[in-house]
Amino acid sequence: MADLTDLFYRRLLRPILFRLEPELSHRLTIGLVARIPRVRPAIDPPELRTEAFGLYFSNPIGLAAGMDKDARAAIAWNAMGFGFAEMGTVTPRPQPGNDRPRMWRLPTHRALINRLGFPSAGVDMIAPRIERLRTRQLRLRIGINLGPNKDTAAERVAEDYAALMGRIAAIADFVVINVSSPNTPGLRAFQTPERVRTIVEAMRAAKSDAMRPTPILLKIAPDLEPMLIDEIGDAALALRLDGIVATNTTLRRAEVGVDSDLIGGLSGEPLKQLARATIAQLYERLRGRIKIVGVGGIATAEDAYDHIRAGANLVELYTGLIYQGPGVVRAIKVGLMRLLARDGFRSISEAVGSAKH
Ligand code: FNR
Repeated sequence: MADLTDLFYRRLLRPILFRLEPELSHRLTIGLVARIPRVRPAIDPPELRTEAFGLYFSNPIGLAAGMDKDARAAIAWNAMGFGFAEMGTVTPRPQPGNDRPRMWRLPTHRALINRLGFPSAGVDMIAPRIERLRTRQLRLRIGINLGPNKDTAAERVAEDYAALMGRIAAIADFVVINVSSPNTPGLRAFQTPERVRTIVEAMRAAKSDAMRPTPILLKIAPDLEPMLIDEIGDAALALRLDGIVATNTTLRRAEVGVDSDLIGGLSGEPLKQLARATIAQLYERLRGRIKIVGVGGIATAEDAYDHIRAGANLVELYTGLIYQGPGVVRAIKVGLMRLLARDGFRSISEAVGSAKH
């Protein structure tokens, strides 16, 4: 079944999609998958089940933020076998994002560059969609990635996060503070312990109908100075954050073997080692006290496993899905089972952080 999906994607669909302008193929794909009927995915083996931030995940493979910015296709991500999906980035008010073109493929590198700049339908449009999903009882866990509007002044950014939290805390399984997109001017400057604290405190003070505190994660860039990574890890501990998502896209080029002067965040294979080094450093510092969601360059089970062994409790992918197609989720799960068995681990959690740093 997965082999057929693979064949169909690689031989037929991908060549067509890759001939189109990247954003057009993205829109077509989302439009297409948003229409697929509900299909119950195969039950995941117990070895893949895992727990993080007080939530149970059927498997540790998630869809990274940016693919489904307006939460239109959760049914499809569930059917593909993802254990969770991060919707968004969602902004408080609708906004169009940057001018086009703003997304490019680098097929020889199995990479993408984007400077979308948070095009978003806005939280008032997206929240009811997620509320409706709640009645469908999907196995998929739903995280919502939050970002400020582009025209929000720096001193009001925390208010944007608070407004978003108030609106979606009760319907999200977890939320992610995104201060690591390179495409909203000034946003990355919020990656300091003090500014993260301001945002988190504003979010916690926001009124919401949530019955339980909604887990809050922080998503960081792969381009931070090592000292700042430690400081952010310490701040996450002090603030009792539930997790860190590592990492967003990189602004580096030559250092990761890519020769391109396109402006934007680079994702996919060239980001992998950088993301893994960030995960490993965070794990070294946090030692499991705060969960890590590892993302960057995953396209195979080995990639996912190596992020887990570096310290990730959960993993996510975006670019790998574009190059490999929907069969990649099942392929990663099957491969992870094999790798766990090879190394004598009975569960994902036993493998977390098992690589020698
Ligand atoms: C992204 N990413 C992203 N991240 C985020 O937090 N909010 C967003 O809106 C987006 N948008 C977005 C658009 C596109 C086209 C890409 C390729 C990526 C970053 C993404 O979630 C992930 O962190 C990186 O892409 C690294 O993972 P992969 O793609 O190498 O698996």
